[in-house]
Amino acid sequence: MLTVAVLISGAGSNLRALLDAAAEPDYPARIVVVGADREADGFAHAEEYGIPAFLVPWVQFATREEWGAELGAQLAVWQPDLVVLSGLMRLLPATLVDEWAPRIINTHPAYLPEFPGAHGVRDALAAGASQTGASVIIVDNGVDSGPILAQERVPVLTGDDEASLHERIKPVERRLLIDVVRRIAIGDLDLNAVASTAP
Ligand code: GRF
Repeated sequence: MLTVAVLISGAGSNLRALLDAAAEPDYPARIVVVGADREADGFAHAEEYGIPAFLVPWVQFATREEWGAELGAQLAVWQPDLVVLSGLMRLLPATLVDEWAPRIINTHPAYLPEFPGAHGVRDALAAGASQTGASVIIVDNGVDSGPILAQERVPVLTGDDEASLHERIKPVERRLLIDVVRRIAIGDLDLNAVASTAP
């Protein structure tokens, strides 16, 4: 059974989907802990499922490195096989990424390498794109620049605003994430192999 830590900042709808999937008897991964950089609404999903949670408040640390060190200490307690960044709205310090790579993955609401960064949905709309998408990647020390594990296109519709487009992307993101975690768990997706062949 693959053990997973999920890091969030917000509503945690992707976390919720992963928790629901992991509750199915034949799903080969389970979530052992949920962490966040702020008092995230998504903690409610962890509580509902009786999953332990930890908070490492970004605002209480002087530097990214100090915050990341505490985050790393919390993760070390749980020793997950995989760390999933699911809407964590902070860049991790390089020391933490290097410690966990390639066993650390991220979901992104755009078809990477198009529209990386914190405003992937807004940027796709601003660019007038007719399609965008969702991606799951291995985290590296760039901004959404790691090796792509799965991605799928989502059309931009006339009249879309950031909220409506994001709501259409999120179900795709969830489906990709659930499938990627499943494939990692059953050995169908080898993160070391993907990372070592990345350009
Ligand atoms: C997701 O689209 C994620 O990729 C982005 O923020 C959203 C998180 O949503 N960075 P939620 O917290 O899972 O509801």
